[in-house]
Amino acid sequence: MTVAHECATFDATAFTQWCDRELYTPAIRQGTQILDLACDIHLMSLYRQLAFTQLLAAPRTARQLSDGLGFETSSHIALDAMLSRLAAQTGIVSVEPGPPARFQARAQPPDGKAELAELAALRRAMTELGPGYAAALEFLNFGCENFVTALRDEPSMMDRVLSGADAEHYQLWHRATNADPMQDLHGRMGAMAVAELFSGGTVLELGGGTGNGIRHLLEVFQARRMLDCIDRFLFTDVSPRFILDTRRAMREAFPSVPCEWKYLDMNKAFRGQGVEQESVDLVYGVNAAHIAKDIVAMLRECHAALRPGGRVAFAERVRKCPGEMVPRELTLNLSRYHRTAAQRDAEIRTAHGYLTPRCWLVALQRAGFQEAAIHPDLVVMDQVFPEHYAAVVTGVRGCD
Ligand SMILES: C[S@@+](CC[C@H](N)C(=O)[O-])C[C@H]1O[C@@H](n2cnc3c(N)ncnc32)[C@H](O)[C@@H]1O
Repeated sequence: MTVAHECATFDATAFTQWCDRELYTPAIRQGTQILDLACDIHLMSLYRQLAFTQLLAAPRTARQLSDGLGFETSSHIALDAMLSRLAAQTGIVSVEPGPPARFQARAQPPDGKAELAELAALRRAMTELGPGYAAALEFLNFGCENFVTALRDEPSMMDRVLSGADAEHYQLWHRATNADPMQDLHGRMGAMAVAELFSGGTVLELGGGTGNGIRHLLEVFQARRMLDCIDRFLFTDVSPRFILDTRRAMREAFPSVPCEWKYLDMNKAFRGQGVEQESVDLVYGVNAAHIAKDIVAMLRECHAALRPGGRVAFAERVRKCPGEMVPRELTLNLSRYHRTAAQRDAEIRTAHGYLTPRCWLVALQRAGFQEAAIHPDLVVMDQVFPEHYAAVVTGVRGCD
């Protein structure tokens, strides 16, 4: 059976229902709301600390603000996101759309006296949701505390944290990608989709990092007695520490799965990095594909690496609208690699980092993929859980 034929058996409606009923649990839904509230409190606190009421007495662009504060070159992307979110969520600042957008202070932010108590209450509510939930708040807190350091004094700081090169904060990032159930669900969603879409062969995982993707995929395959259909699992990342640690964990948990562990930079040609053309059947990624600076070029590399009939499946956080800043980006936007994954294009890349669902579909088509699709059905999800944020983006290499 070809991979494309297998796709026809994928029950998209059942997958959407599974996401609604089983993946987005009541705890996940509550946690998502708590995280949004905490993010806005932190952003207002930063707004106050950076004296934006005074700095934005007259309209200014994020770049003007960033330069005035002595922040490093691409920091305006973080400030733009922060101020756009505050403009949408609060009345303290307004935005005159651009490009470039101009921001102006409109009202005093809260004085901050109640902030600590509010954050403590949110932390308690989050902790009560279950193990791991507090990791999301811990990650936000870290971003807030290091905002100026990362944008001005030590611009490579957050890249080191996100790539495992900062031993002190290694666990913080590990918890933020694996222990936090709201984040872990990307790997669960991806694995569930792949178990339906994949008919066997070689898997290439991009940006596999701390292992959320491979762990869920192998767990689901094991539960369905499908492990044998993996001929070869090629796990890749740019962080040697992540590769070594994930290798150790997977060798222990799944000793029989034929895995290979490789450094692969998705911003460079795959072939020069040991992945031959037409050598894999599935290119997989969990919250990794959006890191590519040039999405279409990366997708073309995937297309070339796939055998005819092979497929890409990326479990991704998606932006509902181009200017949306998601809570986690308070911290992620402090990383240069997240900010500079930003080759703008009106159709495929309207913002840095995460893409909108529509951008993914256009990018897949431009890279030559067929059957470009997004699961679950996001129109249905908008109705049943408007705060939904995860999707699996997929496309097939035709038998050209
Ligand atoms: C958000 S993390 C996701 C990690 C993993 N998939 C998970 O969910 O546990 C993104 C990963 O992309 C990796 N990464 C960053 N830049 C990359 C690049 N240019 N090529 C390949 N991987 C990259 C990082 O090291 C990190 O492990």
